[in-house]
Amino acid sequence: MVGLIPSVFIDDLLTRVDVVDLIDSYLPLKKTGSNYVARCPFHTEKTPSFSVSRSKQFYHCFGCGASGNAIGFLMDFSHLNFVEAVEDLASFVGIDVPREESATRPLHDKQDLASLYTVQQHVAKFYAQQLRDSSNDDLAVQYFKTRGVSGEVARDFLLGYAPDQWHLLADQFEVGLLKKAGLVIAKENGRVYDRFRGRIMFPIRDRRGRVVAFGARVLGDAVPKYLNSPETPVFQKSNEVYGLYELLEKEGRPAQILLVEGYMDVIALAQFGLRNAVATLGTAPSRMHFDLLFRFTTEIVVCFDGDEAGLKAAWRAVEAALPCLKDGRHIRIMLLPEREDPDSLIRSEGVDAFLARLATASSLSDYFFSCLSEDLDMQTLEGRAALMVKAKAHLEILPPGYFREMMVGKLNEQVEHVAVELKPEGTRRRSNTSKEKVTPARTANALLLQNPELAQSQFLNEGVNLSLDSPGLNLLRKVLAVIAEKPELTTGGLLESFRGEPEESQVRALVQMPVLVPEAVLEMEFAGAVRRLVAQVVEADLAQLLKKEQALGLTLDEKKKMLRFLAMK
Ligand code: GTP
Ligand code: MN
Repeated sequence: MVGLIPSVFIDDLLTRVDVVDLIDSYLPLKKTGSNYVARCPFHTEKTPSFSVSRSKQFYHCFGCGASGNAIGFLMDFSHLNFVEAVEDLASFVGIDVPREESATRPLHDKQDLASLYTVQQHVAKFYAQQLRDSSNDDLAVQYFKTRGVSGEVARDFLLGYAPDQWHLLADQFEVGLLKKAGLVIAKENGRVYDRFRGRIMFPIRDRRGRVVAFGARVLGDAVPKYLNSPETPVFQKSNEVYGLYELLEKEGRPAQILLVEGYMDVIALAQFGLRNAVATLGTAPSRMHFDLLFRFTTEIVVCFDGDEAGLKAAWRAVEAALPCLKDGRHIRIMLLPEREDPDSLIRSEGVDAFLARLATASSLSDYFFSCLSEDLDMQTLEGRAALMVKAKAHLEILPPGYFREMMVGKLNEQVEHVAVELKPEGTRRRSNTSKEKVTPARTANALLLQNPELAQSQFLNEGVNLSLDSPGLNLLRKVLAVIAEKPELTTGGLLESFRGEPEESQVRALVQMPVLVPEAVLEMEFAGAVRRLVAQVVEADLAQLLKKEQALGLTLDEKKKMLRFLAMK
């Protein structure tokens, strides 16, 4: 950190630079009317929908929604952070960026950081040299051979070998810098020893290709299998992904990026010609990772082992990705057979089979809904209500846009397009969100009390027999009677009309009972609940009659009643 950039300077810079000239220097613009247009650099398109306005000093793409000012353009187009973009822009107009003295002393001056990058670059080259050095018994070379890693891939990724010795680095590089970079560890007596010994070295490079850290794997089965550099002023584990620089070197705007778990997965995929894989550094994919990767691509495929831990990780990744899913950004989930990783799989199946798998990876929307409804019985009102609750909380995190609307649409579809018929009582999963048992009687009454307009439902006039004697039906009839008398009553009004009545506390509870049903299917749900309530009562009455018939015999009236009930079944 080298002091803050004064905000007046940024204002000044933006007035000096013309966004049209700036963008035109990257992609040729064509004048149409008062605007300048081009094919959008942020998504693939045939006809130009990317438009730049000189008067507004603003660009906007009607296709993908990208928009911003000159600084935003550089950040997105050249993949820079804010300070880098400001610096670039200043040099575009030929001025220097002034710095404010910050109140607290800067932690690291520019010189320090530069030397940290340099020493790690040298060390990476040194380790790469060790790999080729035959005095190391070819252990590492042999290892790469057995894992099928070619010299070309080793070179592209600057792979190396740290020989199994304690004091290699300190003799050749400045110890202070080695310590800062975490490449050596200091003992109490002040002596230092090398952190990485007898390991394959994976240099981790930032987007500009600077070595910021190392990952290191043992050759055999010793533990820990991997060691990473500690966090340093130039390395935050959660900000970097392995393989991104190497990927962007080959392809600046990949159509798709594969997010995998291991260093060796990135290497193996590259070996098979799939150069678009990156790995997190032993952490779960975070929102930061997705934001970073979406600066370079519009589709990320997350690969996970299909075992239980992998499934959990995949769901966590979905949750982390949701806030990043603006329109035009896609996530897909690729679950691998249990105990396979992309490395083992592409070696055993070959690249074509791997690509075929990749092509069938689930879309986020499919995966999202199948995960959420997995433990739910979608045949029941409770199941669908639970899906509503769970999904809603997640969908609210989505940024506004068509994708969000589409997901909400899909949720409604899931909740509606299922048969209303419920499974018999008892086989159904109980909702555990409410202490009250959800019964057809409660559901029917709650729906009616909460939506008095349901009293107009057509089905109520079509041969449903509400006259039977049961607490649920008795209450339903009473509520319907109140509404018939005062059709304008709201739920609050209904509650008021039960004040002092024997049903008051029951009504109060039902008015608050959570019954999440989308508007469009309210009447259907109400009808379903009422019919099930009636059926339950008939069933219970019938059972009683049958019992009496066997014990004492039935009167004529009772026989008629039983026949009627049997006909209703
Ligand atoms: P191979 O066993 O060589 O195929 O390695 P891999 O890259 O497939 O690794 P694995 O699937 O076992 O683990 C995935 C990632 O988790 C690794 O690439 C590391 O980033 C991280 N990881 C695994 N084991 C360790 C460990 O012991 N310590 C640390 N810090 N990270 C680890
Ligand atoms: Mn592996």
